[in-house]
Amino acid sequence: MRIVVAGATGTIGRRIGEELRRRGHEVVPLSRGLGVDVSTGAGLDTAMAGADAVVDALNIETLSGRRAAKFFTTCARQLTAAAQKVGVSRIVCVSIAGAANPQVHRLFGYYRGKAAQERAYADADVDTTIVLSTQWFELMDDVVRRASLGPVTVLPTMRMAPLTAAGAAEFVVDEIEDSRAGDRCIAVKGPEEMTTLEVVRRILDARGEMSGRRPKVLRELPYLGRATANGGLIPEEATVDPTTLEEWLRQDPPR
Ligand SMILES: NC(=O)c1ccc[n+]([C@@H]2O[C@H](COP(=O)([O-])OP(=O)(O)OC[C@H]3O[C@@H](n4cnc5c(N)ncnc54)[C@H](OP(=O)(O)O)[C@@H]3O)[C@@H](O)[C@H]2O)c1
Repeated sequence: MRIVVAGATGTIGRRIGEELRRRGHEVVPLSRGLGVDVSTGAGLDTAMAGADAVVDALNIETLSGRRAAKFFTTCARQLTAAAQKVGVSRIVCVSIAGAANPQVHRLFGYYRGKAAQERAYADADVDTTIVLSTQWFELMDDVVRRASLGPVTVLPTMRMAPLTAAGAAEFVVDEIEDSRAGDRCIAVKGPEEMTTLEVVRRILDARGEMSGRRPKVLRELPYLGRATANGGLIPEEATVDPTTLEEWLRQDPPR
């Protein structure tokens, strides 16, 4: 198949591209760095012509709900409009398990943006799969960076079932290869449940630093709300990727 990967240079987009190529598919990578800005739509029709499916693995780094919603809905509309125009019948969008739940996204604008993205795809006339993934181990460096001031790191309490980004990418590619039509939401999660503090402590124990930091004071507080702290990010029904944090930490280099 010929698959367009929007966000092809990102954490998951890169892995989705690698997995697609490993399975013998042709990949059309899109990112601003590669010359295509999905939010303006310039060049999209040409890039998408002849594709069998499109993956939305785009991202914006922001805490603003308004900015996130604008980015994700604009990009979803551009991708669905181009898909309809050139006859691409299928979109797979990478999203976050639990983010669409108002109790979970109440205190986190970025998640409200993801909820808006999911609604934009639900309203579109192109068959779309929303892949609801739990947090990736690879995300934890960013979480530590954002939650640190000097030597003090105060993490948001998130009860989660994290997995490797490579495991999430394989799940996305399995879905691309599944030829069933229609809209659906499917979820993937890791094999163990733990909180942000436990994950970060274990990564720090193994690696000594995260994001170039060795926090002297490391705490967690439920500042993203009770729902997030109490398991709102863990889907009840999900495919379980088997790689544990321990196994991922032993990978050298990490996949
Ligand atoms: N991190 C997690 O644990 C997690 C878990 C579940 C789901 N997700 C979701 O997975 C998705 C991908 O996240 P990620 O962490 O892999 O992203 P990322 O590493 O931040 O990469 C984002 C990608 O999007 C591209 N991009 C951004 N704006 C663009 C634009 N206007 N036009 C074209 N390309 C653009 C970037 O390239 P350029 O900058 O060159 O444009 C890059 O390739 C997000 O929607 C996120 O919410 C993340």
